[in-house]
Amino acid sequence: MSGILNSSIGRKFAMALSAFFLMIFLVQHFAINILSVFSADTFNEASHFMGTFWVVQYIFQPILILGVIFHFVMGMILEIRNRNARKIAYVKNNGNANSTWMSRNMIWTGGVILLFLGLHFYDFWLPEINTKFIEGDMSGTLANGEYRYFEELQHKFVDVWRVALYCLAFVFLALHLLHGFSSAFQSVGANNKYTRGLRGFGKAYAIIIPLGFIFIALYHHFNH
Ligand code: HEM
Repeated sequence: MSGILNSSIGRKFAMALSAFFLMIFLVQHFAINILSVFSADTFNEASHFMGTFWVVQYIFQPILILGVIFHFVMGMILEIRNRNARKIAYVKNNGNANSTWMSRNMIWTGGVILLFLGLHFYDFWLPEINTKFIEGDMSGTLANGEYRYFEELQHKFVDVWRVALYCLAFVFLALHLLHGFSSAFQSVGANNKYTRGLRGFGKAYAIIIPLGFIFIALYHHFNH
């Protein structure tokens, strides 16, 4: 593994693989969260399953967290190496000539997503760990026997500032994904007759998923 990560192509390849993994996570995260718009009970059931099934808790969750850390650290390394390799800095106001704003600012859009994750973990993940492992309520039920997930979700989106911060972060997520998707395909060498179709799919993904998250946040803000 360290051999692969010692070469520039190896590092880009590993970065792309971690990106695909996170993109798959994002789809499943969206699929569960969108349930909250249609049925509180179904959302509760799905969250309860994810929150208590040992494979998810003790295998997928640690892999996911390592995946996020790896993607972040690797992104920093690639950025620093690119900057050092680029002896003469880009002429800033001529940047549009050969690259997009998104491609030149992946480190910043990624940084905003990381800040969002800090807030998001504070909002949802820490209370979850607290309820399950500190208070010891592994089954995740309220006093009246119902699951608590939907109620907690709605409660979080009452505050207009939190909703605004979340929505802003989702816009940055879209910008990050707009370049990230095509860049990741480039890094794994998927430059063939499917490229056009893949590019279209990547653009759709990068816009639909963040828009969907914006919809969920706004929906719960206006319907509680
Ligand atoms: C409206 C949008 C969103 C809602 C309502 C939401 C909701 C949640 C909830 C309820 C949890 C707690 C899961 C648990 O029980 O541990 C969670 C965890 C998490 N969310 Fe989100 N989320 C949203 C958007 C996002 C986005 C855009 C990302 C990534 C950029 C993200 C990344 C994560 C991660 C990494 C976790 C920790 C997963 C784990 O439990 O291991 N979320 N989210």
